[in-house]
Amino acid sequence: MENVTIFNHPLIQHKISILRSKSTGTNEFRALIEEIAMLMGYEALRDLPLADVEVETPIETCMTPMISGKKLAVVPILRAGLGMVNGILALVPSAKVGHVGLYRDEVTHEPHEYYCKLPTPIELRTIVVTDPMLATGGSAVAAVNFIKEHGGRHIKFMSIIAAPEGLKRLHEAHPDIQIYVGHLDRCLNEDAYICPGLGDAGDRIFGTR
Ligand code: PRP
Ligand code: URA
Repeated sequence: MENVTIFNHPLIQHKISILRSKSTGTNEFRALIEEIAMLMGYEALRDLPLADVEVETPIETCMTPMISGKKLAVVPILRAGLGMVNGILALVPSAKVGHVGLYRDEVTHEPHEYYCKLPTPIELRTIVVTDPMLATGGSAVAAVNFIKEHGGRHIKFMSIIAAPEGLKRLHEAHPDIQIYVGHLDRCLNEDAYICPGLGDAGDRIFGTR
């Protein structure tokens, strides 16, 4: 699939396996979500624009590339996407952070929006949307719709675990965005949870329920 990257790096696979275990506690779970986001971000940000700046080394003055401007926005989908933000900020500390608030209705599994605040000028920024879980794809499609309605154009979507159904839905709804997935799982169950998955990502990150 064009514009879709599924990671098969052993470090990412190893960390995802620990995340899956129901005996992994909140502390370790949070740390792993952050580490995986950083490893995925390293690859997803390989096309960040560079501009030469003048630097004086102990030997001489030279022109050398640095990430240009302050054009990156990280936009977590609340709540669980928040867990990935620090992993990206470790790579690009100057990035701005927006938020899109969505929750899935427990019965219909349809996403409901409750919050949106994006850094300006959003149309000039590379936007990295984070959410550890891409299940039916409803939340991801709604978040990207939302960001596009606000003027966002250069969008990357990063999820740690995806179901084939959700990946297909997001790619078909937004073929222009780049999608990065840590691991593609088997399917959804009748409650629209990813199998084998890791359970409810928000609850495991924040220690709720
Ligand atoms: C989870 C997850 C995604 C969404 C994925 O959030 O973090 O946002 O479900 O499911 P979908 O692909 O079927 O839309 P949830 O709605 O549980 O909210 P939370 O992060 O606040 O727990
Ligand atoms: N949201 C989650 O947190 N986990 C799933 O498996 C599906 C949606």
